[in-house]
Amino acid sequence: MKILLTGGTGYIGSHTAIELIKRGYEVEIMDNLFNSKITVLDEIEKITGVKPKFYKVDLLDKEGLNKLFSEGNYDIVIHFAGLKAVGESVEKPLKYYENNVGGTINLLEVMSKYNVKKIVFSSSATVYGEQAKTEMTEEMQTGVGITNPYGETKHIIEEMLKDVAEADKDYEVTILRYFNPVGAHESGLIGEDPNDIPNNLMPIIMKVSTGEIAELSVYGDDYDTVDGTGMRDYIHVVDLAEGHVAAIEHMKPGVLIYNLGTGKATSVLEMISAFEKESGKKLPYKIVGRRPGDLAIIFANPEKAFKELGWKTKLTIEDAMRDTINYLNKRS
Ligand code: WQD
Repeated sequence: MKILLTGGTGYIGSHTAIELIKRGYEVEIMDNLFNSKITVLDEIEKITGVKPKFYKVDLLDKEGLNKLFSEGNYDIVIHFAGLKAVGESVEKPLKYYENNVGGTINLLEVMSKYNVKKIVFSSSATVYGEQAKTEMTEEMQTGVGITNPYGETKHIIEEMLKDVAEADKDYEVTILRYFNPVGAHESGLIGEDPNDIPNNLMPIIMKVSTGEIAELSVYGDDYDTVDGTGMRDYIHVVDLAEGHVAAIEHMKPGVLIYNLGTGKATSVLEMISAFEKESGKKLPYKIVGRRPGDLAIIFANPEKAFKELGWKTKLTIEDAMRDTINYLNKRS
């Protein structure tokens, strides 16, 4: 099977490319390199012995997409490409709607033109918005109380994919709702290395540990949680990548939706102490006010993915901290 990864030089895309290549799949990568580096291809080659074919194409470049698909003969598209800085999406909503939603419309139109009708979409737990419960299951309502345009784009794309699959019964759509990806490949050759200013907890912890950022601001310690700080479902990126392998091996006509998470919630302070334990050094932090839009606790019920895909996470927060620190040490 020949698989195109849009956004495949990115954090999750590159780890997924490795797991697919390891299992003998033919992988090609398309990326605009806005938030990733082309050198990732060399690291993929060092790890797998295979350097995937790469095409520098932007989702908004319809001509480039046409050229790619006219020659590609792809069986499946795994669609990672998209802007994902939550904070920036609030300041520049149209940039996010144009790039994420408009870009996906371009992709789907070109895929249909070349009869490529199998797509795995990189979605996000953000689509659950405000819920009465803290444990998310796939049949829960989505799209209500989403607090940022980034999350809205993920929800709109999910709805678009459902409508496309309704209109054309040949479409096979799998939507994967990520919780909080963390960690790095055990080789330390690839990891989370955003070009943009990170929003997420782990890349900020990484920058605090290297001294690029003086101290971590903990956004609130007055939540109704184990220690007052926010709790999330942090999933190791290699487990997440393996979830994509399971997904492409179970595709069928219609729409399948899965949570990819550990099923456990960890607090910010617990993440800090896990990092300190693994690194052997203190991580400077201060408690500040809550971040607008943050929820107290959100984590996955990953049962459906286990039952239907035979997939569940194997790696722990400690594994993620170890692999992140190994990546940081190798990078410096
Ligand atoms: C995690 C916890 C913060 C930074 C985001 C987006 C989206 C999605 C998942 C892919 C929260 C706390 C964070 C900091 C902190 N990814 N925090 N200080 O908000 O769960 O969701 O990631 O779709 O990117 O929806 O992740 O990493 O921003 O925050 O205290 O400097 O860490 O309050 O409790 P979040 P996050």
